[in-house]
Amino acid sequence: LTESVPDLLAQRYRTAQLPALAAADATIATLLGHRSVRRFLHHGEPGSEVTEAHVATMVAAAQSASTSSDVQAWSVIEVRDPERRALLGDLSDNAVHVRQAPLTLVWVADLARQHALLAREPDAAGSPAPPVNGRLLEAGLVSFLDTALAAQNAAVAAESMGLGICYLGGVRNEPEQVAELLGLPAHTFALFGMCVGVPDPDRLPRRRPRLPQSVVRHAETYGAPPSEPVRLSDLEGMAAYDDTVAAFDLERGADRGPGGRWAARMRRRLADVAALHGRERLRAVMRERGFPLE
Ligand SMILES: Cc1cc2nc3c(=O)[nH]c(=O)nc-3n(C[C@H](O)[C@H](O)[C@H](O)COP(=O)(O)O)c2cc1C
Repeated sequence: LTESVPDLLAQRYRTAQLPALAAADATIATLLGHRSVRRFLHHGEPGSEVTEAHVATMVAAAQSASTSSDVQAWSVIEVRDPERRALLGDLSDNAVHVRQAPLTLVWVADLARQHALLAREPDAAGSPAPPVNGRLLEAGLVSFLDTALAAQNAAVAAESMGLGICYLGGVRNEPEQVAELLGLPAHTFALFGMCVGVPDPDRLPRRRPRLPQSVVRHAETYGAPPSEPVRLSDLEGMAAYDDTVAAFDLERGADRGPGGRWAARMRRRLADVAALHGRERLRAVMRERGFPLE
């Protein structure tokens, strides 16, 4: 990274008042320097490859994340085959960057290993021990959380090595077809993908601003008054952020109009089922795949 931590901080918040940081080391710089990359060097261009050692490093970082009760309830599938990547890109509505990046990782919530252990351990009556707890929402949450923490560690490792990544929640648009494409067994579920490549230096995106810290931080208790969903200062902070994002969009030449403002997009995402691209069916699909989430 060529930019300094103060520069990165200013890009992250785009406000006059910036938080005071306790450190500005390489780890903080990598974290603050994040941006989703959707334009990569093409396969065959010098320096465009994501090597086996890159992936091994990302996975070692992923496996170093905390894991609920040591279950390590995730797997990652490396998809390099251009045809399989193209299919994955189409299925997930992310065709352009998934085709361009040499590697797509699919992060899988995985309770199959636990089920396999149970199946080999009969109870006193000689029948396989029933996976009582495996049916619960808690089991699902454990695997989703473990998967997300692992993936984010891998993302930071990738960015630290100069690679770029973009998460792909779009793999949940067509979960049955994605499961078939990847040969996923029962008790596994593709939570999200991540395309990985060397960023095209001529098409690096600007870093997206985030909400002011005052909105996401709460001292001791949440602090919303009884009649309000949030603190009044949160509404002000969100309005200011809405303006920040609108100015950011103008600056990067992506004027989305009033309907494209942050608050409008958030409202639509929560209120309009079409915004889910099929993911409204997820509960039923997950039950089918062995995540009853009871
Ligand atoms: C779980 C998850 C799923 C995402 N899915 C997609 C996706 O399907 N396609 C895409 O282009 N970006 C996707 N993103 C990237 C977000 O759009 C991006 O992180 C967000 O706009 C903030 O931008 P930044 O990452 O550049 O800071 C996803 C991010 C997360 C965390």
